[in-house]
Amino acid sequence: MKLLITGGAGFIGSHVVRLFVTKYPEYQIYNLDKLTYAGNLANLSDIEHAPNYTFIKGDITDAKFIDDMFAELAFDGVIHLAAESHVDRSITDPMSFVMTNVVGTVNLLNAAKNTWAAGASGFDGKRFYHVSTDEVYGSLHNPDEFFTEETAYDPQSPYSASKAASDHFVRAYGNTYKLPVVLSNCSNNYGPNHFPEKLIPLMIHNIQTNKPLPVYGKGENVRDWLFVVDHARAIDAVFHNGRLGETYNIGGFNEWKNIDLVHLLCTIMDRKLGRPEGTSAQLITYVTDRAGHDLRYAIDAHKIMNELGWQPSLQFEQGLEKTVDWFLENQEWLDNVTSGNYQKYYESMYTNR
Ligand code: NAD
Ligand code: TYD
Repeated sequence: MKLLITGGAGFIGSHVVRLFVTKYPEYQIYNLDKLTYAGNLANLSDIEHAPNYTFIKGDITDAKFIDDMFAELAFDGVIHLAAESHVDRSITDPMSFVMTNVVGTVNLLNAAKNTWAAGASGFDGKRFYHVSTDEVYGSLHNPDEFFTEETAYDPQSPYSASKAASDHFVRAYGNTYKLPVVLSNCSNNYGPNHFPEKLIPLMIHNIQTNKPLPVYGKGENVRDWLFVVDHARAIDAVFHNGRLGETYNIGGFNEWKNIDLVHLLCTIMDRKLGRPEGTSAQLITYVTDRAGHDLRYAIDAHKIMNELGWQPSLQFEQGLEKTVDWFLENQEWLDNVTSGNYQKYYESMYTNR
């Protein structure tokens, strides 16, 4: 099996690459990543010399490069994670989301379709797996509602609109060309290597450095959090055993209001840093709400649990402790990703609020 994983230097992709490289030594794993601000090869330093692992630096928006790579390497499978992934960035720069998330995905679909169709065995034994988000379903307002695989798409941000468009293209290639596709839509992830522009690592970093903790609006928005390694385990299950043409929702049945989550993080950090309880919570600062801020996401994960036997391995409090410990023990990683261009970007975003 020659497997292409895109976006493997990012947060979730790095956990997927590590799982596949170590669990399937008989597979050849190719990690294609442009190394944007969000991609960091330090996320994979422990496996970079594995004999079944190859890194390729490249951009999925470059159709010729993608076509040539498929022609040369003749992959049997694709797990596609490369994307622009931050909602706030999609509000200031939507076009880069259209390019990478939509055009980049269609480039990969074309290359897989054309290369596989021209091969001796056609689509037999091939698989194109598209990794997506629950944000394509929009925002829940009724507390009894969950996103199922049948929920109609209703994306509300440029990020979720670009992911919804990419999902539609993947299904359209499955329907029109019979490309063997499978998809999953996952809730918010957290864990080691999470880029500190997203809520949980941003709060950990700011608590540690005594900076304000910017809570958007009233902090009432709800997210359903899943430990990133559990998402990687789910991706393994869907890639190997998911039924072709199907979609699997992935989530932890673990909903938290942002403000409650930030308070929990403050309590954990006070204990870890030896500060009197209540110290970090004083940093909480309510700031202007995100434009078009989705109120609540919550995944119904029964299909993947019943059909593929997957379930989350960690309770949230355990996962959060592990995550905080990882950030405290990996100061160099954090210093690296919060320096240079990223820092300038972050400061400009922050002062605009
Ligand atoms: P990330 O931003 O941490 O990583 C994205 C990776 O893609 C980076 O390594 C980046 O360098 C690479 N990349 C970006 N543009 C590229 C391009 N044009 N060509 C090649 N590589 C490019 O994102 P993440 O949080 O790890 O998310 C990975 C995937 O999972 C995305 O498709 C995202 O939509 C989806 N997802 C994320 C979450 C979450 O909570 N983070 C939840 C559900 C689904
Ligand atoms: P985020 O981690 O950006 O993920 P997403 O928007 O994709 O769900 O944000 C999670 C929640 O936290 C979301 O409701 C926005 C909120 N948030 C803040 O209140 N402050 C922040 O600084 C950030 C980055 C997010």
